[in-house]
Order: sequence, then structure tokens, then C-alpha cells
Amino acid sequence: SKTPVKVAVTGAAGQICYSLLFRIAAGDLLGKDQPVDLHLLEITPALKALEGVCMELNDAAFPLLNNIVTGDDANQVFDGVNIALLVGAKPRGKGMERGDLLKDNGGIFAPQGKALNDNAADDIRVLVTGNPANTNALIAMNNAPDIPNERFNALTRLDHNRAISQLAEKLGVAVTEITNMTIWGNHSATQYPDLFNAKVGGRNAAEAVNDQDWLENTFIPTVAKRGAAIIEARGASSAASAASATIDHMRDWVAGTPQGDWVSMSVPSDGSYGVPEGLISSFPCTVSNGTYEIVQGLEVNEFSRGKIDASVQELAEERDAVRELGLL
Ligand code: NAI
Repeated sequence: SKTPVKVAVTGAAGQICYSLLFRIAAGDLLGKDQPVDLHLLEITPALKALEGVCMELNDAAFPLLNNIVTGDDANQVFDGVNIALLVGAKPRGKGMERGDLLKDNGGIFAPQGKALNDNAADDIRVLVTGNPANTNALIAMNNAPDIPNERFNALTRLDHNRAISQLAEKLGVAVTEITNMTIWGNHSATQYPDLFNAKVGGRNAAEAVNDQDWLENTFIPTVAKRGAAIIEARGASSAASAASATIDHMRDWVAGTPQGDWVSMSVPSDGSYGVPEGLISSFPCTVSNGTYEIVQGLEVNEFSRGKIDASVQELAEERDAVRELGLL
């Protein structure tokens, strides 16, 4: 039988992981014939709660779940891991300044980047879900000099999936009719979901919608502010959908994207589409043989250009702030 793949997950006692871990153990990440070892990292006060989660994982008797490692020491938990899903992060408290948020998260993602650098397997792939995801990924990447930069991604797949869902609903079609969706920029309110390159049933989505007012004043803000709408409705932030998107991103990075389609991944920029090298920004990406590429040659109209530039500007400001804090 196959050798288990070691999957590290941080924030393992949190609400996203209460869905994510069970999906991984059920084979949704790496396939129904691939055993997995879960390497679960938490902070010390949450280890007791994590014990309870592990009891439930065991109680589910997942045939693919080979072993569980838990702890509060990243150097131990990341030992030999092939995949790292960095979910645990410091949430923004009431009245907290952005600088403080970046600093607190720097205190998490700099040491975790170093621990991955020193302990992970050679084929390590890292996906950051914990917010501010793009900049946390940038911090981890810069603290892991021996791991190739392209192995550090951040999650904008939830935004991508939300955009597909909103467009399908507007046009009264199945989500499977929507292809070639792109989220550009930062996982934040400035993100830009692009309908000009998206397709519905193979036809241009912006043309199918034919309603610039809806696109600008309903579609974009609904996708960008969906996280706040979930909190308002549920009394807690999106968790199961965030877990599902985390699975989607990493599964596609490992197994590949369908012919003719692409997905949104926040990846280190190579300068494509005018996004400065060194930022981790969302792009349309295809994956084959476990390697992703930024889709080239898409048309970026004037409207899109302005939106992309604004979001990338925000990423540059976050980078400058964490650089000033000495985190890069
Ligand atoms: P949560 O607060 O329920 O769980 C977070 C867990 O992380 C807690 O159990 C906490 O103890 C743990 N943690 C904190 N510092 C840690 C460290 N240094 N090492 C290991 N674990 C640590 O939060 P939830 O709802 O699970 O969300 C997690 C993160 O995901 C948040 O930052 C949230 O903003 C973000 N998120 C990102 C989305 C995206 O699309 N990129 C979507 C939804 C949430």
C-alpha cells in the first residue's frame, strides 16, 4: 500500500479545522487511496481542546487516517511534512490597528516559516489560510530561505468559489457552467473578481451578464464582503466553506487543474500583469505535474487595470509594513 503523506495543519483546534481535518482524513485532499498522517499544531492553551478533536477523528475510524501527531512545538510537528496548511492566526481584535495585527501574525508566521525550513520534507508545499493570508505567506516564505519561494501560496480560492456561486445564481445556471474565473490581488476587501475573462457555458461572462452596474455595484462588493455577511448571519466567520476552499486549492496544486480551465491561487509574483516581483498576489493559475503556472496573455481592460492596481498597492503597503517590523 502507499506510503502515508504527512499533512501539517495549524490552528487545529479552531473552527475551520473542525471541518478541514475530517475532510482530509476522508480522502478529499489527496484521494481515496492515499493514506495520510495528520501533524497538528496548536498553542499550549488549546492542546486540551485539540485532544478532543483527535478523539473524534479516531471515533470516525477513517480508513485512510494512518497516524496523528499533535503538539505546540512547530519544530517537532513539522518534522518531515510534505504539505503544510497554515490556518491558525491571530484574529483582529476590536479597535486593533493594522500594524499590531501584522506584528502579532509576524510572531506566528516567521517562526513557522523557519520551522518548515528546518524540518519539512524536500517536497513541502505550504498554503496559508490564516489572515492576513497573503502577507502571512510572504513572512513565512522570507523566513524559509532553503525552500523555493514558489512553494508558498495563500488562499484566495474561497473568493474564487464565491464569485462562481454569485455569477451562477445571477444567470440561473449551474456552477459547473462557470469556468475561467479569476480573483486578482489580495484576499481582502480590495480583491478583484474578474468577469471579463470568465466564461459561462464557454461564452464570455461579462457579455452574458451585460450589466456593468450589477458587475460593479453588486457582484464585486458581494464577493469581496461575503466574509462579513457570513459573520452577520451566522454569528461566526466562515469555516466550512473556508475549509472546503483550502482543500480545493491544495488538491488542485497536487493533482492538477482541468484542461481549458484555471483556478485562482495567491502565488509569489514573477512580474506578470505588472504585479511587482516579491509580492504574493492572486492570479489565474493552471497546474500540471504538480507545478503551477500563471496564465499568460489575458486581456486586462482599463476597469480591471484600476482594480488590480489598487489591490496590489495594498499588498505592497502590507509588505512595507512588515519589512519595517523586521519580519522579512
Ligand atoms: P479560530 O479562532 O476558530 O481558530 C484559530 C486557531 O488557531 C485557534 O485554535 C488558535 O489557538 C490557533 N492558533 C493561534 N496561534 C497559533 C499558532 N501560533 N500556532 C498554531 N495554532 C495557533 O479561527 P478560524 O475560524 O479557524 O480561522 C482561522 C484563520 O483563517 C483566521 O485567521 C481567519 O481570519 C482565516 N480565514 C481565512 C479565510 C480565507 O479565505 N483566506 C477564510 C476564513 C477564515
